[in-house]
This record gives sequence, structure tokens and C-alpha cells, in this order.
Amino acid sequence: MDKTTTLLFSLLFLFTLLTNSLSKNLCNQDDKNTLLKIKKSLNNPYHLASWDPQTDCCSWYCLECGDATVNHRVNALTIFSGQISGHIPPEVGDLPYLETLIFRKLSNLTGQIQPTIANLKNLRILRLSWTNLTGPIPGFLSQLKNLQFLDLSFNGLTGSIPSSLSLFPNLLSLDLSRNKLTGPIPESFGSFQAKVPDLYLSHNELSGSIPKSLGNLDFNRIDFSRNKLQGDASMLFGANKTTWYIDLSRNMFQFDLSKVEISKTLGILDLNHNGIRGNIPVQWTEAPLQFFNVSYNQLCGHIPNGGKLQTFDSYAYFHNKCLCGAPLDSCK
Ligand SMILES: *[C@@H]1O[C@H](CO)[C@@H](O)[C@H](O)[C@H]1NC(C)=O
Ligand SMILES: *[C@@H]1O[C@H](CO)[C@@H](O)[C@H](O)[C@H]1NC(C)=O
Ligand SMILES: *[C@@H]1O[C@H](CO)[C@@H](O)[C@H](O)[C@H]1NC(C)=O
Ligand SMILES: *[C@@H]1O[C@H](CO)[C@@H](O)[C@H](O)[C@H]1NC(C)=O
Repeated sequence: MDKTTTLLFSLLFLFTLLTNSLSKNLCNQDDKNTLLKIKKSLNNPYHLASWDPQTDCCSWYCLECGDATVNHRVNALTIFSGQISGHIPPEVGDLPYLETLIFRKLSNLTGQIQPTIANLKNLRILRLSWTNLTGPIPGFLSQLKNLQFLDLSFNGLTGSIPSSLSLFPNLLSLDLSRNKLTGPIPESFGSFQAKVPDLYLSHNELSGSIPKSLGNLDFNRIDFSRNKLQGDASMLFGANKTTWYIDLSRNMFQFDLSKVEISKTLGILDLNHNGIRGNIPVQWTEAPLQFFNVSYNQLCGHIPNGGKLQTFDSYAYFHNKCLCGAPLDSCK
């Protein structure tokens, strides 16, 4: 062979190597089989048309594979806003490297929260939201020790909140809002295992009093609005906390506000439609409030002058017993 031919052959060899590695099937065969079962179980929806058994599953829509350090295993499955009907397939529990599992905005996704999700020990994000899931919140979710975000909002979940949901060692946010949950806020929520998560429980049918133990916690965000909660909620406040967001609106809370101090970081406070009495403390002028509403309560007395309190209009204060002073009429 002359030099040119040798060069040509070497180039050809290199080229073959290169294309070979590019078209290499990165997908793990077990994951691929599982994904195809999931597709079948969801009745082969158009949304998953890219899930073609002839191609590398790591190139399919709605999922991600890890990098070489985890052998390209499927680590995220996100099915969002498609024409999907039926239940969450049990086979999702057979994707052992999954860190993110999201079923979202799928109004025809029905049935209960799939028990095999408990097998997904690496899960960090679980979002089953804006779907039409029913039945209880299963206690087995607390076995997912790596979970950081649990979002079950906008479903038809019923029953009470399992007290085991306080046991996650790494949870940052718990969103159970917009369901049909009943019963009290569990006593165990006064002792979360690790960092105190943001807690969204709004738009349910929760009843009873807030456990006193929640007063020991320094929450960043709490939304308990639109439930049937009653009694004292003053323990949630405190001048030494770093709370940013508290929404207790549209419940049946009854307590005296006069001695309640709020955190100097509080930006959002909504207490409208409760039975809260007493007056608004002067200390409240120290908070950097951006949204504020104490309307429809039993408050009385002078609205303290200063801070952010006069930046809100009368609708933030109206329908109380005898509040007065700007922005309401001056006190007699
Ligand atoms: C849900 O199912 C109904 C009835 O089968 C159908 O008309 C509708 O288009 C479906 N919606 C979605 C988002 O799949
Ligand atoms: C959820 O399902 C119920 C019937 O099971 C249906 O009436 C309702 O419209 C569904 N919700 C959504 C958001 O599609
Ligand atoms: C708030 O912190 C100050 C100073 O650290 C302390 O003296 C006070 O007792 C604390 N107040 C409450 C209600 O914990
Ligand atoms: C406060 O809440 C009441 C009752 O929902 C509402 O009518 C009013 O517009 C709200 N005001 C502000 C400033 O948000």
C-alpha cells in the first residue's frame, strides 16, 4: 500500500470508530424494558411517541439519563400536560435510579398514589400535581429518605395527613394544598427531623387546633389558608423568627393579637376571614411587609402609624369590630 492509501484507510477506520460511538446505545436495557411497559400501561399515548424501541431510550422525550458515573440510568421522568389517561403505572417503581418523578397537569390521571413509588430510594423530587388522584396520602412516602420536594397539590386526595410525613430527613418543601384532606395537622409536625420545610396545606378541609409544638419551629413559609382550623395560631409568630410568609386566611382562628410580635423578616401576612380579636401591636411597624390583610376579623383599636402599615388601603383592614386610624377613618 502506498502512503495515500494507508492514510485513507486510517481515516476510514477513525471515522467508523467515531460514528460507532455516537450511535452507541447508552440506554440501560432494564430501564428501556420498564419504560416500554410504562408506555403500554398508559395505552401508548401520542405524548410518548418518541419512545421507539429501535432508538436509544436516553434520547426519548420526558426523561433524562444520568452521566457515565451512574451508567446512563434513567434518573428523571417528567410527564407533563399531555393526553394521558389511566393510573400511574406500577412499573415506575422499577426505575431504581430515578431522582425526579413528575406527573403534572394531567386531568385524566386517576387512581391512588402508586405504592411502588416507595421503591424509589433515590427520589429527591416527587410531584404528582394538577392530576386527578384520589384516595389517601400513603404513609409509605416517608420511606423516601432522600426526598427534598413533595408536591401532591391540586388533586382529590382524602383522609388525614399521615404523621409520618415529619420523618423525612431532607425535606425542604411539603405541598398538600388543594385537596380534600380532613382531620387535624399532625402533632408530629412540631418536630420535623431536619430543617423545617415550607408547608403548604391550603384549600383543604383540615380542622381542629394547630399543635402547640409548631410554635417551636422557625418556618420560612406557612400557608394554612382556606381550611376549618380553629383556636390559637399566635404560636406561629415571634419576633425572633425569620419567617417570610404566613397565610392563615379563611379559617376559624380565634385569638388575641394584642401581644403577638411578628418576625422582622415578615413580608406576606394574610389573616382575613377569621375571628381574631385585640389590636394591632406597634411592633408590627418594624416588619418589611409587602402584602398585608387583616380584614373580616374582630379587631379593634388604633392602627399603629408607621412602617408599612399605611401602604395598604382600607380593604386590608375593613370589616373588623372597631379598628380605626389611617387608612380607615380616624379614631373618635
Ligand atoms: C380526558 O378524558 C376525556 C374523556 O375521555 C376527554 O374528552 C379529554 O380530552 C381528556 N383530556 C385530556 C387532557 O386527556
Ligand atoms: C377529575 O375527575 C372528575 C371525575 O372523576 C371530573 O369530574 C373532573 O372534571 C376531573 N378533574 C379535572 C381537573 O379534570
Ligand atoms: C428573642 O431574642 C432575644 C435576644 O436574643 C432574647 O432576649 C429574647 O428572650 C427572645 N425572645 C423570645 C420570645 O424568644
Ligand atoms: C383583603 O381580603 C378581603 C377579603 O378577601 C378582600 O376583599 C380585600 O380585597 C383584600 N385586600 C387586599 C388589599 O388584599
